[in-house]
Amino acid sequence: MKLLFACAEAAPFAKSGGLGDVMGALPLALSKIKDNTVSVILPYYHSIKYNPAVSKEYICHFHMPLAWRNQYVGIFRHVIKNEGVNKRNELTYYFVDNDYYFGREGYGYADDGERFAFFSKAVLEALPHLGFTPDIIHCNDWQTGFIPLFLKAFYQTQLPNVKTVFTIHNVEYQGKADPSFLSEVLGVDAYWRGAVTFDGLVNALKCGIVLCDRLTTVSETYAHELKYDYFAHGLAGIIRENDYKTTGIVNGIDTKIYNPATDVCLPVPFSAEALPEKRENKRLLQEKMGLSVTDSVPLVATVSRLVPHKGFSLIEAVGHQLAQCGIQWIILGTGDKNYEEYFRTLAHRYPATVSAHICFDETLSRTIYGAADFLLMPSQSEPCGLSQLIAMRYGVIPIVRETGGLVDTVPPVNPETGEGRGITFKTFNAHDMLHAVERAIELYNNAPLFETIQKANMHTRLDWRESAKKYMTVYRSIL
Ligand code: GLC
Repeated sequence: MKLLFACAEAAPFAKSGGLGDVMGALPLALSKIKDNTVSVILPYYHSIKYNPAVSKEYICHFHMPLAWRNQYVGIFRHVIKNEGVNKRNELTYYFVDNDYYFGREGYGYADDGERFAFFSKAVLEALPHLGFTPDIIHCNDWQTGFIPLFLKAFYQTQLPNVKTVFTIHNVEYQGKADPSFLSEVLGVDAYWRGAVTFDGLVNALKCGIVLCDRLTTVSETYAHELKYDYFAHGLAGIIRENDYKTTGIVNGIDTKIYNPATDVCLPVPFSAEALPEKRENKRLLQEKMGLSVTDSVPLVATVSRLVPHKGFSLIEAVGHQLAQCGIQWIILGTGDKNYEEYFRTLAHRYPATVSAHICFDETLSRTIYGAADFLLMPSQSEPCGLSQLIAMRYGVIPIVRETGGLVDTVPPVNPETGEGRGITFKTFNAHDMLHAVERAIELYNNAPLFETIQKANMHTRLDWRESAKKYMTVYRSIL
């Protein structure tokens, strides 16, 4: 099967969140399946273009119309060879070059709509130049939501057999624009207005949902939740109408990259068979963070973008109680200024128990996973979530709210039987969360049970193999 992933970010080249991780790992897993040819295409951001560590080869350039514009498109390539498998199973990355649109990083700009409309069209326009016609273009999130539209509106004769799969990683971000965007940027006629607009605005996510051949989202529970207004950010009706073509497939992680036995970020590597070494990491981190050095209280970590849907309103409501309930607490992340300020203040007030790091630091995050006993992740909604998976791999027990992918990946611990993977709570309520943390402390104080769960978490299968197979089934169903 020939697969092309289109996305706004892919690790290790560009990453601002979970999407980048998934785009770094899923294509790689699929490229290892026999007879697959897999490529990924993403914008040539400055950080990639001027990174001397990334080798790239010029492929071609051309000009492309985008409504009344005529824009330059350059295509560059980087190939990753899979070890130990035949040469055809390499993974190719293509970068779309245009300094006007991508001579900066990521997204969050006023012209994001135009930037990613350009990208989406360039993906299709580039195909004849690549000598590679995919069977499937796998689109991800709103930034690629116009690909199914452009394919249908402009490329049907050139690419009659190409199918599209569209994955929602987070329904909250939809890529909305004024209705004039239709003719001014997309350059499609009024026939497409119905498919492309929602609630009086152009909506890239909705466009992808409606016009793709198959729709997926990143966990089964989230696929179900999206049918309800509470979760769907306005699109519940649209999702329900497209239920017939929807599948939920849970994310995995790259267990080679995330491996506590080989992770160079950890002062002391460890495995499920060598847990005392994990405690050594805890001791070293306590020392480094200026927390009191002790194993008698659990070390709880919060590693997250500091945004509302991650549940920070709950944390804010009982933060002082958490700081005094008999845990140590390390927070790492950036995001909303008021949350950033809140954690700085809290750490200042409780220096022996709370340590806040308002930054994005991959190395530090792994050091924290290596040292922590629990991960606190009280998300209001969570399409899949990757932190809880990384945490489990590093022998950390997640404390999560039962929503989305957290339901599918963190079955609750049953103290009677020793089954389960984490401490969970149902209602989005601050005191329910606090109670869950108290139950975590109880678990910590029951050392044999705590260690049983820790080990079980580290032995849980978290890689992409099963989910990659499920994607193959989705692809096959439309070919
Ligand atoms: C988004 C979601 C997260 C998911 C990730 C990758 O960041 O918020 O839950 O794991 O995408 O699919």
